[in-house]
Amino acid sequence: MTTFSASDVPPQTGRTFVVTGANSGIGRAAARVLAGKGARVVLAVRDLGKGEEAAATMTGDVEVRRLDLADLASVRAFADDLDGPVDVLVNNAGVMIPPLTRTADGFELQFGTNHLGHFALTALLLPRVRERVVTVSSTGHRAGEIDFDDLNWERKPYRPMGAYAQSKLANLLFTAELQRRLTRSGSPVIATAAHPGLAATNLIRSQSRGARLVERVAGLVAQSDEAGALPTLFAAVRELPGDSYAGPGGLFGGRGAPKLVGRSAKARDTAVARRLWDVSEELTRPATQ
Ligand SMILES: NC(=O)c1ccc[n+]([C@@H]2O[C@H](COP(=O)([O-])OP(=O)(O)OC[C@H]3O[C@@H](n4cnc5c(N)ncnc54)[C@H](OP(=O)(O)O)[C@@H]3O)[C@@H](O)[C@H]2O)c1
Repeated sequence: MTTFSASDVPPQTGRTFVVTGANSGIGRAAARVLAGKGARVVLAVRDLGKGEEAAATMTGDVEVRRLDLADLASVRAFADDLDGPVDVLVNNAGVMIPPLTRTADGFELQFGTNHLGHFALTALLLPRVRERVVTVSSTGHRAGEIDFDDLNWERKPYRPMGAYAQSKLANLLFTAELQRRLTRSGSPVIATAAHPGLAATNLIRSQSRGARLVERVAGLVAQSDEAGALPTLFAAVRELPGDSYAGPGGLFGGRGAPKLVGRSAKARDTAVARRLWDVSEELTRPATQ
């Protein structure tokens, strides 16, 4: 059993982290630890007011910048405005089981935000990333299918949980394919992934009936934001092989100190990962060219 905690994060002075969705939940908890360890941390948030409120709870070199992952023009503007190298990009932001909603570019909200927004952001920042790209997935990826015939739920009836699972499977396939590409090009940068188990964050608060049920269950069994952030921190600062996936090491993977964990067979499918990469490139091209 590993015993990794926030105090095991080594000093980060001189390093820059970009954390998406850092105004809330796991992203905020991870950003706070990194800033406390001396890193420059960019809180990449869609609401600057919420970002400033979160920054006020942190000590250290913290900067708030606007990023709406559900709008590729905003992703582009964020990348264009950001100065200097990025040591670690943490693709953390996410939405879970909202009613059917479309992004500014017409994508289903969960696929568009959780996967495509981060895909575009990574593509734009990668030339300046010096060390790693961490992407936050979920045990929910296990229920996911990548439906190439209808990635954006335009033809089949919308299933919020199915769309969430697809987006979280996409996060792991993205990490694996990114690592293959980095390795192939001889890059020293690595791609890793993490999942927080079950943490009592804002993620599960939305309008749908399913969300209220999940919220009640989560209130009973979930761990804190701080504990939920530990796998992300582990994936961000530990010496790890590329394509490592960290999650809570306790019973059923819902809580406990982080360790490297397994993933579904679908998340290891290299052909699907390659195809998803190509389709994602196509869908996000207007912003990433
Ligand atoms: N909590 C869990 O048990 C759990 C389990 C498995 C996986 N995860 C994953 O953990 C990650 C963090 O979630 P969390 O639990 O910390 O939830 P959270 O407290 O709701 O935080 C999600 C963050 O994502 C941001 N966000 C949503 N849409 C965005 C957009 N279009 N552009 C930029 N930022 C956006 C939110 O901003 P606003 O505050 O403005 O909405 C918020 O800062 C997610 O990827 C989630 O899938 C969480």
